[in-house]
Amino acid sequence: MRIDLLTLFPAMLDGLLGESILGKARERGHLDLRIHNLRDWSTDKHKTADDRPFGGGAGMVLKPEPVFAAIEQLRTPGSRTIYLSPDGTPLSPALGQRLAGEQHLIFLSGHYEGIDQRIRDHVIDEEISIGDYVLTNGTIAAAVVVDVLARFIPGVLGEENSLTHESFTRNLLDFPQYTRPADFRGWKVPEVLLSGNHALIERWRLEQSLEKTRRLRPDLLQGHQHEPLHSRDHQAPAQG
Ligand SMILES: C[S@@+](CC[C@H](N)C(=O)[O-])C[C@H]1O[C@@H](n2cnc3c(N)ncnc32)[C@H](O)[C@@H]1O
Repeated sequence: MRIDLLTLFPAMLDGLLGESILGKARERGHLDLRIHNLRDWSTDKHKTADDRPFGGGAGMVLKPEPVFAAIEQLRTPGSRTIYLSPDGTPLSPALGQRLAGEQHLIFLSGHYEGIDQRIRDHVIDEEISIGDYVLTNGTIAAAVVVDVLARFIPGVLGEENSLTHESFTRNLLDFPQYTRPADFRGWKVPEVLLSGNHALIERWRLEQSLEKTRRLRPDLLQGHQHEPLHSRDHQAPAQG
């Protein structure tokens, strides 16, 4: 899968998308991720990419010329161009999973007051929000969306790992996890986890997930089906 990210602040993405699980996914060729500076498509000597809004008001707006030039150069047959925006479709696991099935995505991050409306009207295929709040910078949102979708690309989390037990995937929050030592400052790991009895452990984990979801997010339980967990679902995701 290829992903192009268009931003005025490419250095913000180098660390976020270059390390840990995403960094490994790129190294192993699961993800062809390319980070671009929008100013590379500015044609004036000052590399201008934004300007004051028509009609007045505070802040700056991304200009159409460099954005159109960048997208027209990067897009391929079948690619989808996505703008990160507070008024876009709310990000969800289902949306992440759908995006992971695309061949080529181009993400455009807005900055300051946003982007010229003609960009949204004529070269954007889809708009995504990461929540009902306003960030200073769409680059942060682009990194979040890429992280969410990358987990659904086969091989990114490792062959052994499964997404099926993660929070939200089954409308349940995840169960508590413990590691060594079994006794830390007198706080002991639940006995059942040391029992070696996989059926009991599965049951305990499901009960914990249900209890936690009832307590913290009862809205998720509407229409929930308690399908059995499989032992391979319980493996921890690759650490990063
Ligand atoms: C300061 S915001 C502009 C907000 C814009 N004036 C508005 O009220 O919708 C700058 C950029 O951050 C990004 N952004 C801010 N909040 C976001 C959110 N919740 N989800 C996705 N992108 C967001 C968008 O790309 C936006 O152009």
